[in-house]
Amino acid sequence: MNFPHMIYGGDYNPDQWTEDIWQEDARLMQEAGVNLVSLGIFSWAKLEPQPGVFDFAWLDQLMDLLHAHGISVNLATPTASPPAWMVRLHPEMLPVTAEGVTLWHGSRRHYCPHNPDYHQYATRIAAKLAERYKEHPALVMWHVDNEYGCHVGECFCDNSAAAFRGWLKQRYTSLDKLNFAWGTAFWGQQYGEWEEIPPPRSSPSFPNPTQQLDWARFTSDSWLACFDEQKAVLKAVTPQIPVTTNFMGFHKGIDYVKFASHEDVVSNDNYPDTSDSEWMIQAGMTCDLMRSLGNRRPWILMEQSTTHVNWRQRNATKLPGVMRLGSYQAIARGADGIMFFQWRQSKAGAEKFHSGMYPHIGADSRVWREVKELGNELPKLAPVLSSQVQSDTAILMDWESWWALDLDSKPSNDLRLMPQLMAYYAPLFKRNITVDFAHPETDLSRYKLVIAPNLYLVTDSAAANINHYVENGGTLLMSFFSGIVDENEHIRLGGYPAPFREMVGLVVEEFAPYSETQSNSICTVDDKQFKCGFWSDVIHLENAKALAAFEGDYYAGSPAITCNQFGKGNAFYVGTIPESDGMEWLIEQVCKSASIQPVSMNAPAGVELLQRTNGKSSWLFALNYSAEKVTIPFDGRGRDLLTGANFNESIYLDPTGVAIIQLDDSN
Ligand code: GAL
Repeated sequence: MNFPHMIYGGDYNPDQWTEDIWQEDARLMQEAGVNLVSLGIFSWAKLEPQPGVFDFAWLDQLMDLLHAHGISVNLATPTASPPAWMVRLHPEMLPVTAEGVTLWHGSRRHYCPHNPDYHQYATRIAAKLAERYKEHPALVMWHVDNEYGCHVGECFCDNSAAAFRGWLKQRYTSLDKLNFAWGTAFWGQQYGEWEEIPPPRSSPSFPNPTQQLDWARFTSDSWLACFDEQKAVLKAVTPQIPVTTNFMGFHKGIDYVKFASHEDVVSNDNYPDTSDSEWMIQAGMTCDLMRSLGNRRPWILMEQSTTHVNWRQRNATKLPGVMRLGSYQAIARGADGIMFFQWRQSKAGAEKFHSGMYPHIGADSRVWREVKELGNELPKLAPVLSSQVQSDTAILMDWESWWALDLDSKPSNDLRLMPQLMAYYAPLFKRNITVDFAHPETDLSRYKLVIAPNLYLVTDSAAANINHYVENGGTLLMSFFSGIVDENEHIRLGGYPAPFREMVGLVVEEFAPYSETQSNSICTVDDKQFKCGFWSDVIHLENAKALAAFEGDYYAGSPAITCNQFGKGNAFYVGTIPESDGMEWLIEQVCKSASIQPVSMNAPAGVELLQRTNGKSSWLFALNYSAEKVTIPFDGRGRDLLTGANFNESIYLDPTGVAIIQLDDSN
């Protein structure tokens, strides 16, 4: 991706409007500083009204019109919404749920990712678009499909079952290996023929966990294969045009680490509920994931809403200034583009009450004014383009472990990864400590601190990598129920957490998950007392030192939080979930031990501080989420790119205020 300016724009669905509106759209886009639109995402039925009969005239006109107004196009392959005729001709292309229910035409994403007819039609329309527009000057990016895995995460039809068996044959090569990996000796589930293997359709009790895990891997690979197939078609014709598809944040169904490595640029759709007082933490975490998925290269916020969405039970408006704040948060966390769903608010269809950049009421509106202001302000950020966000801290994130952890029949079925990630991310966010997300098999040596919340499944190489990281001087914070199973979802025997037992210097004898009404507390070595909940590990120290001990229950007095020196590094272990003040204490201990410094010290509550740098210059982003004016102590000097104001010693921000300060010593 190599754009000379911050990207600004949105999804553009002109096929919902008459031609006179198109002219007005182009003029208004110019007025708002729009420079990129995602065009034709759901236009398959209009582009191919009958099988093999194509109508590009309307799109030709739009491509020309947009280009004439200086607006580039992120052209979509419209394959997320197959035309009705395709369903009439090939009803077996419709997705089927685990219970055997067919999902019909009538909304969108009504296709099975394993249907051969669908694939033929999808690659054909992608090829037609590429051929038609390969030399069009407006074309600058390809937007493949839309939100793979949204609405329909998996399909259990017979075609999918056959594709699953093909995938399993490749992975295991023999039924003996599959029977071993799946532990089919349990409940007498052995398979004697490949044909006998079903997808995990509804069954009387808990399905085989390894079957479910492989199904998750297979399904994720299937969506990636859909993308790869179209990408290959597009690249064959337009090798120079970057290809993306829009992600959905921490979307469990697709291994985005794997998927992102197939994309030219990572892009994401983010719809935080800003009526939640901690929305910025959730949104920040998603931004950090996107930056990390693209190996810290700039990414694009492909969709957000200007104000309310339509799909929550209650769809709160974004208060004045909050859309701008969220947009700058994404840029501060590494985005080089801000886009919306959608340009013009629809007047019909399921999303007519979803906000747009240009609302039903028209130009005399708060939303339009905010859209215009932001679009006309963003060019001031040109110097920041392509700069990066540095981080000393990483949280380990592995989709396979997430899938395995979230399967049922565990010591506590309430244990889920996302709240655990958030429990560690939130105190770091509040301290203005920037966090990357890293896969446990990647080189971790760039980080001073690595956090592993509930890393339940680890491969041999991930285990070796993490041990190696600590041995060589890294600081690790690992929470309970980590290192429990291998990639087959088989227990790693040898005392939990077996692959890390020596590194953490302890062994867990039993897991003691709590009932809903139960709680416990811990007392720290510096005599602080914190409540804890949900789970206790019954820990025996081997080499580690206890930093806190449980106060109640049959294991009272046994360690709850520990630290072990291992090689040149330190491994902290947490055998429970401390409440938030306990988490604050814990994060303070590990940050001290790892010499982690926040972007800036002593920032008032409700302020987010981040830094981007390109090696020559650095920019401090200060964002005020609070309803108060704030003064932020600042030990540098610099000039605000947005207002031209000079700051030294202190930064002043109004409620929802933003400053982007080019630091003097970095010139
Ligand atoms: C996204 C989707 C858009 C639109 C939007 C509404 O998930 O990609 O097409 O539906 O949600 O919030």
